[in-house]
Amino acid sequence: MLKNARFLTSNTDHRKCPPANKPEFAFIGRSNVGKSSLINMLTNHKHLAKISGKPGKTQLINHFDIDGRWYMVDLPGYGFAKVNKKLKADWDKMIRAYLTGRENLTAVFVLIDSRHSPQKIDLEFIQWCGQLQLPVVLLFTKADKQSHSKTSQNVHQFLDEMEKLFVELPEFFVTSAVTFEGRDELIGFIEENVAE
Ligand code: GTP
Ligand code: MG
Repeated sequence: MLKNARFLTSNTDHRKCPPANKPEFAFIGRSNVGKSSLINMLTNHKHLAKISGKPGKTQLINHFDIDGRWYMVDLPGYGFAKVNKKLKADWDKMIRAYLTGRENLTAVFVLIDSRHSPQKIDLEFIQWCGQLQLPVVLLFTKADKQSHSKTSQNVHQFLDEMEKLFVELPEFFVTSAVTFEGRDELIGFIEENVAE
């Protein structure tokens, strides 16, 4: 169950984030992949997390309180072609510090656009997460944009690439912020992990 979602804080410094005393689920992935949309879909809000057609909308570490029981975190995306080197370095530093320093991180949801064949930038990011032993779960987004068979083909291609890099494949879900596909499954996964 997910009843009450409330925005808490936006930060650049993970040490200023809310106290790390509850399970935390973070959403990360390429710019424009649908992180903020998925957060709104899960919480049944239209405008809780800011959405934009323009990549690079989310710039900060945004914490949301869910039913006083767990945190949901909206993160800025990677791979935004138009940012300069300094901005990219700042992003790397902020995200790296957050992902490695936040001890209550229960899952890192890495979002992958289900419309595309495997992209190097995503595989590299997941490999980096793997090296840090982060609890990665894959979410294939925007499944409403093409047929089920095309989605399935892209998902399997991606998992094939992952198999070359990892001994154990992470769990994965197929989602759509438009049709709500994957919502019950994802909330079920979160609930199981909050309850532990
Ligand atoms: P940044 O914060 O810029 O990194 O982007 P983001 O990953 O948070 O993406 P955001 O949720 O802002 O969505 C980007 C665009 O994709 C918006 O135009 C959304 O309406 C659209 N979008 C997101 N999810 C879906 C989906 O499941 N289906 C469809 N059709 N469009 C989606
Ligand atoms: Mg966003």
